[in-house]
Amino acid sequence: MKASVIAHKDFVVSKVDDRVYGAFLEHLGRAVYTGIYEPDHPTADANGMRGDVAKLVKDLNIPVVRYPGGNFVSAYNWEDGIGPREERPVRLDLAWHTSESNAVGIHEFADWCQTVGTEMMLAVNLGSRGVDDARNFLEYVNHPGGSYWSDLRIKNGRKEPWNVRMWCLGNEMDGPWQVGHKDADEYGKLAANTARAMRMFDSKLELIVCGSSHSDMPSFPDWERIVLEHTYEHVDFISLHMYFRNPEQHTGNYLGLSEKLDRYIETVASTIRQVKHKKRSKRDVYISFDEWNVWYHSSQKDRQILDGNSGWPHAPGLLEDIYNFEDVLMVGLILNTFIRRADVVKIACIAQLVNVIAPIMTEKGGPAWAQTIYYPYYFASLHGRGTALNLVVNSPSYESAHDSETPYVDVAGVHDAEANTLSFFLVNRHPTESIETGLSLQGFGTGTIIDHQVMTHPDLRAVNTATNQDEVKPRRGDGASIADGQLTVSLPPYSYQMIRVQL
Ligand code: AHR
Repeated sequence: MKASVIAHKDFVVSKVDDRVYGAFLEHLGRAVYTGIYEPDHPTADANGMRGDVAKLVKDLNIPVVRYPGGNFVSAYNWEDGIGPREERPVRLDLAWHTSESNAVGIHEFADWCQTVGTEMMLAVNLGSRGVDDARNFLEYVNHPGGSYWSDLRIKNGRKEPWNVRMWCLGNEMDGPWQVGHKDADEYGKLAANTARAMRMFDSKLELIVCGSSHSDMPSFPDWERIVLEHTYEHVDFISLHMYFRNPEQHTGNYLGLSEKLDRYIETVASTIRQVKHKKRSKRDVYISFDEWNVWYHSSQKDRQILDGNSGWPHAPGLLEDIYNFEDVLMVGLILNTFIRRADVVKIACIAQLVNVIAPIMTEKGGPAWAQTIYYPYYFASLHGRGTALNLVVNSPSYESAHDSETPYVDVAGVHDAEANTLSFFLVNRHPTESIETGLSLQGFGTGTIIDHQVMTHPDLRAVNTATNQDEVKPRRGDGASIADGQLTVSLPPYSYQMIRVQL
C-alpha cells in the first residue's frame, strides 16, 4: 500500500500553542498521595515530593498542569489545604467516595510545579461554592500583600504571589455526577458573574469556562452555545473533555475515534464563531481541551469504591488504567488531531499525570515507570512545537464506526522555524499492511533526518509494568530517506513514528 503527503512551507494552520502539551493532576486515588507526594519514599525531597516521579515529569517538559480537579474541585474548600499540616481537616471527597487528608494543598502543589518546571492552571469551585470562594482564592494566590487573604499566604510561608494566569471556572458543570451540577443557563450566569469578579481583580487573567464533558452528552452542543451567550465577553477559552474507550476490543473503531474528536472540535469551533457573530464581538474564544486520554481499563475494578462499598479510604488505587500498545496509537492520533487544530485548540491537558489514568505509574515505596502512552506524549511535547502545517494527505482508508473514510495513515507536521526543523508524527492504522509513504517537502530546501523513532509491537495488548518497564518503548528507526525533496518512509502495520528533519 502507498500513501502520499504534501508539506509546503507556506501552507500552515497556525502556531502550536505550547500549552497543548499540558497535563492534569487531581486529588483522586493515588495521583497526589504516593503519586507525586510520598514523604517516606527513598527519593523524596525536603517537601516530601518523589524525586523519581519529578524526573519523569520533568523529562516531558510539560508547560502547564491543571489542578486540583476534576470532579474533586466541585466540593473542595481550598482553605483546608493551607496552614500547619497537623491542623488541616480530613474531609470526605464526595466525587470519588474517599477521604482527603489535605496534606497537600496549594503551597505544596506550587512548590512542586517549580521543581518540575511547569505553570499552574487552577480551578475554582463553582459546584458547592461560587463567586465569593473564587475571589478569595484568587486574592490568596495572586495578591502581593496587605489584604486578609494575601497576608495569610505570607504568614503561611509564601511571600511572593504566584501570579497564576489560567483559571478554570468550575469543572464539567454539565454532568449530573458533578456536585452542584447546573443547567446551561444557571451555569452560564454563575460563570459570567465569577469571571466579572475575577477580572475586577485582574483584567488580564485567562479564564476558561466549562464546555461539555463529552460530545455524547444530551446537552451537547446547545450547552456551548448557551454558556457562551452568557460568558462570551468575559472568558478566553471554553473547556472540552473526551475519554477514549475500547471495551469491545475493536481496534478499527477505537482508532477511528480521533475522527469523532475532530468533529467535536469543529462543532465547538463553529459554535464559538456563531456566538461571536451573534454578539458582534471583536474578541476570540479558543478551546482548552483540558481533559483527554484513554480511560476504560480500570472502570470495572473501581466500582467497589465508587459505589461506596469500601467506606471512605484515603488515596486508594483508583482509575489505574494499565495502558497497552494499542493505546500508544490512540494517544498518537489524539495529539495529531490537536496539532492539526492548532488554530482553535490552544490548551490541552492529558488526564491525568501520575497513577490516575496516567502516563506515569508508581508503587508505594517502590519504583516509578513510564506507561506505554508516555512515549507519544513525550515526542509530541518535545518536538511538536512550532507551526502546524496544513498537510495534503492521500491515504487509503477503511470504514470505522466514526467515519466511512478513516484514513489508514494519520499524520501531523510541525515546522520549527527557529530550530530550522520539521517534525512529523505518523500513525498507521492498518492491521496487516505496511504503507510506503512519500512526504513531498516543498519550499523547505534540502534536509537531513536527525531523529527517527518507531513504536511497533506484535501484541496490541502488551503493557509496561513495574517489573517489565521496557516491554513497549520506542526504538530508533532506520530505512527512512530524503532525496530530491521527498521524504520516504515505510510505516509498518499498527505503528507510531516520529521523524525529524534538519533543514
Ligand atoms: O479525570 C477523571 C475525571 O474525569 C475528572 O475528575 C472529571 O472532570 C472527568 O469526568
